[in-house]
Amino acid sequence: MNTTFKEKIETLKAEAQNLQAKNAEELEQLRQKYLSKKGAVTALFDEFKLFPKEEKAQWGASVNQLKQQVESRISELRDAVTVHCASSTVNLDLTRTPDPIAMGTRHPLSLVREQIIDIFSRIGFTVADGPEVEDDKHVFGMLNFAPEHPARDMQDTFFIEKAEGVQKPTDILLRTHTSSVQTRVMTQWAKQLADSSTHQVPDSLRVLCPGRVFRNEAISARAHCFFHQVEGLYIDKNVSFADLRQVLLYFAKEMFGPETQIRLRPSYFPFTEPSAEMDISCDLCGGKGCSFCKGTGWVEILGCGMVDPNVLESCGIDSKVYTGYAFGLGVERITNLKYRVKDLRLFSENDIRFLQQFESC
Ligand code: PHE
Repeated sequence: MNTTFKEKIETLKAEAQNLQAKNAEELEQLRQKYLSKKGAVTALFDEFKLFPKEEKAQWGASVNQLKQQVESRISELRDAVTVHCASSTVNLDLTRTPDPIAMGTRHPLSLVREQIIDIFSRIGFTVADGPEVEDDKHVFGMLNFAPEHPARDMQDTFFIEKAEGVQKPTDILLRTHTSSVQTRVMTQWAKQLADSSTHQVPDSLRVLCPGRVFRNEAISARAHCFFHQVEGLYIDKNVSFADLRQVLLYFAKEMFGPETQIRLRPSYFPFTEPSAEMDISCDLCGGKGCSFCKGTGWVEILGCGMVDPNVLESCGIDSKVYTGYAFGLGVERITNLKYRVKDLRLFSENDIRFLQQFESC
């Protein structure tokens, strides 16, 4: 009887070597034919189980070998079928011109910030940087803010670490304006001046500080809890308000066109005296008055003034020798004017349909 068992094994082994399948269905049919519960190999195993012990020992190895052969042939076929399917559905044409890669665009706020920096760098301003997480001293104290000034209030400022009760110079907060960088660069310059015997120090300070600022405001089309400013600071001997006005006029004409006019209105900032706010003539209506400028013909773009002597002194600069001016402009405001973006939220929502409208990289 075992000759027939042997023949069965041999026949199946021979078959196993030549199994073929063109697709997944044919492969499944093969698996069922040989390896399923009712399959040929399984049937052989069932027969084998009934053998007496000594015969089991004789045939065990061959039956197992057969099963392995069938399994490995089927898995070989499975690999071939998978590769075949993958390559036949992806219609590869290696000679085709590739699809163009979308290059992305510059963010409108970056474009405007770069343009502001470019305009001021042509008249000698260099860029300085300061931390967004600041202490009370640099954001308020050294800038001549009285301890009870409303801007220091919880309602305007995001605190990170705050001492109980009255505000302390060491309280940690998110800077509410880039004027904090003024105090850092002035203090550093004053130290260099005091130590000028060892190395050369520039005899004036002319910096721009672009950066993000934070205020505790409800988010709407017109207000946001963070926005961008560019601070300007010039300290030298004999700096006058006329210098400030002339530099701002130059900026307005470069940024908005040669027809642009400026107007300075008296204002108040603790760190400048005198202080002013600057409007430019509305370029939508040419100054005649429209809904954009609320019928006035002017739109406000920045705050400015002569650096208060108290601020110079708090940074270690002799206010009898040096004077200076400072200004702070809102990047979103200028971007609104240039590109007519009506809703501030668009700047931070990362909506690709909005962003794609700007200059590509
Ligand atoms: N820091 C002021 C603000 O955030 C702007 C300003 C800067 C005003 C420099 C005067 C001088 O509104």
